[in-house]
Formats: sequence, structure tokens, C-alpha cells
Amino acid sequence: MNIAIIGYGRMGKTIERIAQTRGHHIVHIHNGGPMDLEALKAADVAIEFTQPEAAAENIAALLTHGIPVVSGTTGWLEHKASMDALAEQHKVGFLHASNFSLGVNLFFVMNEKLAAMMHAYPEFKPGIHEIHHTGKKDAPSGTAITAAEGVLQAYKELKGWTMNEDDQALRITADRLDPYFGTHEVHYTSDIDTITFTHEAKSRDGFALGAVMAAEWLPGKAGSFGMRDVLNL
Ligand SMILES: NC(=O)c1ccc[n+]([C@@H]2O[C@H](COP(=O)([O-])OP(=O)(O)OC[C@H]3O[C@@H](n4cnc5c(N)ncnc54)[C@H](OP(=O)(O)O)[C@@H]3O)[C@@H](O)[C@H]2O)c1
Repeated sequence: MNIAIIGYGRMGKTIERIAQTRGHHIVHIHNGGPMDLEALKAADVAIEFTQPEAAAENIAALLTHGIPVVSGTTGWLEHKASMDALAEQHKVGFLHASNFSLGVNLFFVMNEKLAAMMHAYPEFKPGIHEIHHTGKKDAPSGTAITAAEGVLQAYKELKGWTMNEDDQALRITADRLDPYFGTHEVHYTSDIDTITFTHEAKSRDGFALGAVMAAEWLPGKAGSFGMRDVLNL
């Protein structure tokens, strides 16, 4: 398959390596500046891992020109609904995931089941903690937000998530430390003990492999998708 890489940073370089080991060709790399839409015509699919302020513009340009997009950039989701609409309008595939690794997607499913069980025990209060490397620009992570949304499906009395102290909402805390590729912990704390449920990434390879698998799956499909569609979870 011919792949274009949009964003040639830590993730873009890892995706290039993993895609090549799976026999794909990297036909174009875009790392800022004006997009070369002529060169992008050679791509069956584009994989976009850039920065929160760049993602929506990149994705909109690609979808408008009929190029399927796999995007992993986090911190820009206020524009996601308009990207979903563009994918529908242009009958092209768009797949965004806050986290592409198989392990984290299993963690998301287990997190929802655990929250449904724990909600019956009000002495335990839920909370989320995430740790990433110091180069990460957004906080909390997109993965922590997805985990929070999973908890909130069971804890409907809470008013969304917050990074502040607020008993009425689900608290997310974040640390930026090196070297951390992404650690996410959902904890349930009572006055006498704490239960923790954790996913810890050991490298970026799991994210990159999931993104390449999504790129193999997406071409030929129209509309907006997530990693649960790819993994059939
Ligand atoms: N979904 C997942 O599984 C997952 C996993 C890991 C990371 N992420 C997310 O993926 C994103 C990228 O992470 P990273 O660690 O690779 O960041 P990074 O190392 O900072 O790489 C981002 C790259 O995008 C480039 N860039 C900036 N503006 C651009 C534009 N308008 N068009 C194209 N490229 C542009 C940057 O170039 P300059 O350096 O020259 O500005 C940089 O090379 C972040 O949002 C991160 O949270 C998601």
C-alpha cells in the first residue's frame, strides 16, 4: 500500500519504520508548510500525527481531496464533528483514535465493565491519573479523556471530567516525566483502600502498529470510524 505520513516527529518516524516492515511504501512525507496535494495523489491513505493546532486543517484538506485519513493527534477534538461531516460529504474514510494500541483498546473495554461494577459501591470514588514524556503538549491525554468517558457512562451523576478539585466531577490528574510513553491508571479510592487498574506503554511501537493496521483497513470505506471498528471490539 502507498502511505503518506503527515507529521514526521516521534510518531511519524515510528510509523514509517513499522509500515516499511509490513511491506508498505511511504510515498510522501509532509511536516508543515503548504501541503503538496499533487504528491499526495499517489497515496492510498494518509496517517496524521501532528500537533493539536495543525490537525483539523490537515485532515480537512486531505478529506476534501478524497484521501482517506488515519489520525492520532490529540487535543483538537472540538473540531472532530466537522471532520466526521466532511468524511460523510466526500464519501471517504476518516478514522481517529485517541490511542491506537491493542492493549489500550482492550483497557478501554475493560474500564467500562469495571466502572459499571464499581458504581454499585459508593464508598469507592473513581479518578484517573496519566503520565507522559515532557514533550507532550496537551494535558490530559486523549487516552485519559476516553478512559474518563468510559467511567462516566456508569457514573452519570458526575458532571463530566475535570482537572480541578471538584467532588461533582471525575478528576483527571497528569504528570509529565521522562521517559514515559504513556501510563494510564483508573483508580477507585475508599477511606481504607485503593484499587488501581493500569495500562503502561513500553514504547511507541504499539501506537504505530495500530495506526498502520487502521491504514490497511480504511481505504474503500466511507464515513467516520474508530479503533473498535478495526479491532472488532
Ligand atoms: N493516538 C495515539 O495512539 C497517539 C500515540 C502517541 C502520540 N499521539 C499524539 O500524536 C501527536 C504527535 O505526537 P508526536 O510525539 O509524534 O509529536 P512530535 O514529535 O512533536 O511530532 C509532531 C510533528 O508534526 C509536525 N508538524 C507540526 N505542524 C505540522 C503541520 N501543520 N503539518 C504537518 N506536520 C506538522 C512537527 O514538526 P515541527 O517539529 O517542525 O513543528 C513534528 O515533526 C500528538 O498529538 C500526540 O499526543 C497519539
